[in-house]
Order: sequence, then structure tokens, then C-alpha cells
Amino acid sequence: MSFYTPNKAFAKNARVKNMCEYQELVDKANEDYEGFWDSFAKTKIDWFEPYHTVLDESNAPFVKWFDGGKLNVAYQCVDRHINTRKNKAAIIFEGDRGDKQIITYLELYYQVNRFANLLKEDFGVQKGDRVVIYMPMIPEAAFAMLACARIGAIHSIVFGGFSAEALRDRILDAEAKVVITADGAYRKEKPYMLKHVVDEALSGDTTVQKVLVVERNNEDVIWVAGRDYSYNELIKSKSSICKPEPMGSEDPLFLLYTSGSTGKPKGVQHNTAGYILWAQMTMEWVFDVKENDTYWCTADIGWITGHTYIVYGPLAMGATTVMFEGVITYPDAGRPWKMVEEYKINQFYTAPTAIRVLHKTGEEEPKKYDISSLKVLGTVGEPIDPPAWKWYYEVVGNAQCAIVDTYWQTETGGHVVSPLPGATPIKPACATLPLPGIIAEILDPKTGKKVGAGESGYMCITRPWPSMIRGVWGDSQRFEKSYFGDVKKDGKAVYFTGDGANYDKNGYITITGRVDDVINVSGHRMGTAEVEAAIKKHPNVAEVAVVGKPHEIKGEGIFAYVVLKSDSGIADELEEFKMINKVIQKEIGNIAVCDDILFAPGLPKTRSGKIMRRILRAIAKGEAITQDISTLEDPSIVEKIEMMIKRTKGTL
Ligand code: WTA
Repeated sequence: MSFYTPNKAFAKNARVKNMCEYQELVDKANEDYEGFWDSFAKTKIDWFEPYHTVLDESNAPFVKWFDGGKLNVAYQCVDRHINTRKNKAAIIFEGDRGDKQIITYLELYYQVNRFANLLKEDFGVQKGDRVVIYMPMIPEAAFAMLACARIGAIHSIVFGGFSAEALRDRILDAEAKVVITADGAYRKEKPYMLKHVVDEALSGDTTVQKVLVVERNNEDVIWVAGRDYSYNELIKSKSSICKPEPMGSEDPLFLLYTSGSTGKPKGVQHNTAGYILWAQMTMEWVFDVKENDTYWCTADIGWITGHTYIVYGPLAMGATTVMFEGVITYPDAGRPWKMVEEYKINQFYTAPTAIRVLHKTGEEEPKKYDISSLKVLGTVGEPIDPPAWKWYYEVVGNAQCAIVDTYWQTETGGHVVSPLPGATPIKPACATLPLPGIIAEILDPKTGKKVGAGESGYMCITRPWPSMIRGVWGDSQRFEKSYFGDVKKDGKAVYFTGDGANYDKNGYITITGRVDDVINVSGHRMGTAEVEAAIKKHPNVAEVAVVGKPHEIKGEGIFAYVVLKSDSGIADELEEFKMINKVIQKEIGNIAVCDDILFAPGLPKTRSGKIMRRILRAIAKGEAITQDISTLEDPSIVEKIEMMIKRTKGTL
């Protein structure tokens, strides 16, 4: 496999200019781990009070970084830039319908302060209170995040595509006091509503006292007296001065619910200092954003990528970040390139699903625009396939831009394995090397030893790092069990990501995908158990098993094997398919609907009743079954299912 070496002109001015500089950083971290982090924490963060301890591992895996320090993330992201960048664009917003807004750092400062005062004065939000944000991609969402950070409230953003049930679960788990939402937003020029979802989520017992509604669309919404308030009205009278709350390094900054192997999503908790430090450092290293650059990440703020790489990372470093409300293929697949041309975007960061769609539906579109401002192209969220990678590199990047295939997760807070654009020779679809300071290793789960070149193993991180997950909200046991239970190195439990990976002969890391019961649909992380729990709510369903199946555009699609109750009296499978997906829409949201459902006569189970998902995964993928099936309770089930799949070929 040949490598693509960094663009020489770019490398000359990059923060990390070559592999020697990369290696120096890696060596520094290996030789003096705490010293390495100390040197960056001291210089990158504007501390209100200095920390006394760099890393406290005495209660591992519960660790403390920069203990004793006091800081404020809103101050780090906004206030400290006022002296040097007050008139610089902090956020460039483009709405779905092409409406535009440029928010300078000074303007952002005032907006955040007013918002913070509103939460404090009108809603009584205090340090440590949980605030759920259920919002579209509009600037007020970023103001809301920073306003919470300013007063020490813990935000929990719920992606706008989640249903009322899913929103309700997350509100209740976090015991949120306030929900911030909007009356609607636009998608493909059509309004879509959010407020009624909040109303439904809050029906019945709730911890929520107040709902703040940003009036973006001026839609007709129901206002519940004493509970719902208009942001546009309340904000008018708020002072634009609000003192930032001095936060301890380990005070929680936010929760973000994500899927794991079990049915219930986990509230991943990130704390203040370590998170913001790594968000800023990775922005600087991985995207190498310069003072006059314009950076665009197409993620949604409902996911971790939106948190770290639309809001916190770019603003912490004082960059200009683009926020886009719409769909990047609307009105056509030229939309992103039109925006790159117009705003002279220098770094563009998106997901493989988007790259695949843009490739398939608009292969030649980039050539219609002047996109020569691009310097770094990023990808995140799922393994990218070489054809999409090559198109991205050759057509979008004109073979001049580095592609940073950034591997990380909600739990890691920021990138952990990624090329550095001025240093790392890259190869298609390969996340390459751990970032300096991140001790990421592929281990054999049985022996805990590092695997050799060409062997598969589990992607682990063997030392704590500053932006790592600090806990699962309200469930410390689950934190230990989920992440520190599977792999031991030298007898010590290490952080396991849930992903499989391998090294090539140069030590480059390729992520092969999840090895647990998590699937990745269009970069949206989904627990198969979560989808199964939703399907089981349908009264006709007796049993269900959900697996992932390769999908040309989405990366993975959702494949459900459903056994109907014998008395369900189903005549029309298509109707049943629709009904099941309706249940999923209600329980989770559109993002979790099944691509395929096979109505099976039974499921392959061991004699003790365990469903053999590995067999079902193989069947869904059309792979040969290598496993011994003679020990199954009813081996003939496998054959029957295979026959059914053969018969339905073309439709399933
Ligand atoms: C997958 C998204 C291959 C992986 C930031 C991980 C990737 C999960 C990559 C986390 C990549 C993320 N190559 N796979 N570059 N980046 N993944 O929590 O399976 O939504 O565990 O965070 O996405 O998804 P999450």
C-alpha cells in the first residue's frame, strides 16, 4: 500500500511539521506522562486558580486531572478572546434556506452572558443543575451550551431526531430541571417541529420545572402557563454581564447519552478541565487551524462531534466555526462545495456516510466550485471505505489536502487515533497512529498482550487521558463494568473502546468496527438491545434479535429477525414491517428504523436459551456459517432462516 505524504507547503507551517516532531511528542509523553500533560495544561488553559496535582490515579478507574484548579469553560471559549479577537467571527451560521449570520466573539460574549443570566434569574438554575437541550442547529444552541458552562449547570443535549420517549428517558435519568428547545427549524426548506415532542416527553411525572422556547420559526405552539417561556421575550431584559462561575477541574461539564450493549443508554459524563484541554489541543494538532482560517464541521450538536468540534474545541482555540442548519445534499450535492467556495473554508470535517452520499450523487459537483481554499479534510464516526476515501482525497482535496481519519468516541471526548496533517503519511481508510499523549494499543483480549502486525485485537487505551469519560451518570458500577471489565494488561483493567482493530507492518491502526452489540448506522451509534427493546413493545412480537448488516450508504443498516406470536394472525408482512418501524419511531426515533425485517419461524438458540447472534450476523451479511450449530436447541432453524433469505433475495 502506498502512502500519501503531506503537502510540503502545508507541512512547513504546520504545528507538527514532520514525523520527527510527532515522535518527539510521543517520546515526551512516554518518558514523563504527567510532565507532558502539565506543560500543555499550564499554557493552554486560562486558570482562575492553579491546580496542585496533574493526575490522581489513586482511585482508578475513577481518576482526577488537574485537581485543585479552577477555571470556566465559557471563559476559556469566549471571554479570553475578547482582548485579541473581539471582532473576529466566532460562529458563521448558515440556515437551511441560505439565511446567514456572523457572530463575532464580542457578540457571542454578550449572547452567552444574557442567556446565562436568564437561566439564573428567571429559572433559578444553579451550579450542578441539569439542563436538557433539545434543539436544532441554530446559534442559540451554542449559546445555550456556553451559558450552562458559564454558570456551572450541566447540559445534556438530546439529538433532535430522538422521539418523545427517548427524550423523556434522558430527561428522567438526568433529573433535569429545565429543557431548552425551539418552536421549530427548517430542513429542506420545510419547517419541522420540536416543541410538541418536548410537550409529549413532559407529560406525566417529570423533574422539569421550566421550558425555554427559542422562537425560530414563529410556529404555532402550545404554551403551558407557568412552565413554558419565550427566549426571545425573556432575553430582552437581561444584562450582558455575567460573572463566570469558578469551576473545579473535575466539576461536570456535560452529559451525553450514548448507546451501549444493554437496552438503556448511558449518560456519559465529561468534566471541565481535561475535556476542554484536549478539545483545544486536538483542534490545533489535527485540524491545524490558523488564525485566519474558517473551519466547518457538518455534525449535529446532538452528538459528541458537534460538542467537541463545532463548539468547544474551535472556540477554545479562538477559531471561526461554521454552523449549518440544513442537509448537505440539499438542494443538491453541490451545497457543501458552494459553501466552501463562499466562506473560503479551510478545514472540512464530515462523516463517511456523507462522503459516500456526496460521492454517489454528485461525483463531479466539487469541480463546479472553487474549493481551493481547503487544506485539511476530516472524517469521523465509522470506518470509511477506500473508494469514498479516494474520491475525497482526489476530487475534493485535489490530491493537495491531508485527510485526517479521526478515530474516537463519545467516551474519549476528543480524537485518540488520527493522522496529523503536516506530519503523518496517510493511506486510504486508515486512522494511522495514536495522538501524542494517548496510549492507545491493540490488545489480545485473552492475554492482554499487544497483537502483532496483521492480527486482530481490541482497541484499548491503557493509561487515563484528560478528556476521558469520568462516569456513567448515576451508575458508577456501570462505568467500571462497561469500560474496564473486558481487557486486562499486566493484570490491570484497561479502558476498552468496544472496537476491533489491527496493525499493519508499520504499526498503523485500522479500526474494523464494533465487536460488541453496538451498530453504527450512518455514523449514529445504536445499541442492538435498544432497538430490540423497542420492537418488543409491539404486541404481536414474541421474540426479536437485531444485528447490523453492511449498507452501501449508511455503513451499516439495521436487520431484525422477528418471531411473531402464534396467535397474532398476521396476513400481510409488509403491513407488519411498517407497524414495527412505527413502534421504533415512537420509542427511539427515525434514526433507528429497520432496513430489513425477516419474520422467522424461530431464532437459533443454545440449549440454555441464549440467542446466537453471531450466526444471525453471518446470515444477514450473507457469510458462510463457520460455527458448529449442532449444539443448538433446534439446528434446523438456521437452515430455515437461510432458505427464507434466499427466497426473499432482492427484497431483503
Ligand atoms: C466508530 C463518534 C472507524 C467506532 C466520534 C466508535 C470510527 C464509534 C471512527 C463511536 C473512525 C468513530 N474509523 N470507526 N475514524 N470514528 N468510529 O460515540 O466504532 O458516536 O466506537 O463517537 O464510532 O461513536 P460515537
